Amino acid sequence: MKKKYLGIGIIGGGFIARFHIRAWVGVRDADILGIFDPDEKRAREAVALARKLKVGNTKTYKSISDMVADPAIDALWIGAPNYTRLEVMEEISHAVLKGKGELIGVTCEKPLGRNVKEARRMLELAKKAKLLDGYLENQVFAPAVVRGKEIVWARGAAISGPPYLARAAEEHSGPHMPWFWEGTLQGGGVLNDMMCHSVEEARFMLTPPGAPRNVLKPVSVTAYMNCLKWQEPHYAAILAKNSGGKTDYLKRPAEDFARSLVEYKDKKGKKVIVETTTSWCYIGAGLRLTMELLGPEYSLQINTLDAGLKVFFSRNVMGKEGEDLVEKQNAEIGLMPVVANEETEYGYIAENRHMVQSFLAGKRPEENFSDGVNVTELLMTAYMSAEKSVTIPFPPPGLDTFVPAVAQGTWNPKGK
Ligand SMILES: NC(=O)c1ccc[n+]([C@@H]2O[C@H](COP(=O)([O-])OP(=O)(O)OC[C@H]3O[C@@H](n4cnc5c(N)ncnc54)[C@H](O)[C@@H]3O)[C@@H](O)[C@H]2O)c1
Repeated sequence: MKKKYLGIGIIGGGFIARFHIRAWVGVRDADILGIFDPDEKRAREAVALARKLKVGNTKTYKSISDMVADPAIDALWIGAPNYTRLEVMEEISHAVLKGKGELIGVTCEKPLGRNVKEARRMLELAKKAKLLDGYLENQVFAPAVVRGKEIVWARGAAISGPPYLARAAEEHSGPHMPWFWEGTLQGGGVLNDMMCHSVEEARFMLTPPGAPRNVLKPVSVTAYMNCLKWQEPHYAAILAKNSGGKTDYLKRPAEDFARSLVEYKDKKGKKVIVETTTSWCYIGAGLRLTMELLGPEYSLQINTLDAGLKVFFSRNVMGKEGEDLVEKQNAEIGLMPVVANEETEYGYIAENRHMVQSFLAGKRPEENFSDGVNVTELLMTAYMSAEKSVTIPFPPPGLDTFVPAVAQGTWNPKGK
């Protein structure tokens, strides 16, 4: 008999888990029942938030296998750091294959892997355990993106022709935890961390509604990267301090700025372009996501900092630092935009609803691990291009085993 309700377990109780928990107030037919985090304090905090928001009778588990073994848990959400992806997925797959418990599906945060080999292995492990798989790329579920695509294709594209250029940017002042800054742990710098959103969101916008992903074929990738801010001694010292002396951007920086141009061919052989910019050195109010879609007689634009709500605090309001107005907030006074419901605006609610409804219907989600593999392939080609300063035809030889110099800890633009 088909299930009408899902019990969810989240692996990792950090920043992104808190986003999913807050988003869950808008998700039907599923409750968050479990959290596993080796850091017990983090696990308890996530459980307390879930209980406070009444999104489930949540409890902590001692291991991933324990969570799989509980018949109340039907699906797992992976929100642990990038460097744990394979061990986490190996444990899930192993527990299911050994019959320790049954699961319907698994979802995984971006990026699916730190390189193509890892991303493909994630897909393989999900298939082996016969799990439905969802790739958590929230931006393709963001209401402005989804609704914008619908309107532009229904009106503009239907009358004047399909869009030919999508521009996407994700920028903020830098990640919140030291491991993101370490190329070897995270898999790269900002290109890996944030361009994964931009390439996928822009590709989604250019894809005709209802068409399969492979209707657009990547032809070539041209990319550039640099470390503009965080290799300066003053800023490198801040990173070293925040990591207890571990992060050394003078010797082992990661890129804090990257851009890419992905050329695609559509069904008729016509070229369409994705242009992305990402940075960890953007100082504005906070996280800024921008998107433009351009066609023969129309255009669309999104800027998450053009919020409907703005507040103003004079210089006499000297409160404590916070992230209560917008993610990665940089200031507390002056005229500040407020993203009133970040879980909705960034797409987390619609993303989680889609994953839950797909799993309940026994269907593979529309955004799945195969998409995560495709995104990783484009990002790795972008690293190849940026490292060599040339345009790389897609798919390049050696893509399957390529590991960026940043991820090997050997990249240093100042050391050239
Ligand atoms: N969709 C988005 O926009 C978005 C935003 C932020 C993070 N993410 C992704 O989510 C993942 C987690 O990022 P975060 O910001 O929450 O990091 P974080 O460091 O804030 O939290 C990660 C948590 O995972 C725990 N952890 C460590 N090893 C673990 C393991 N083996 N099993 C289970 N838990 C483990 C840590 O103790 C920590 O509490 C990353 O892959 C990141 O790329 C996505």
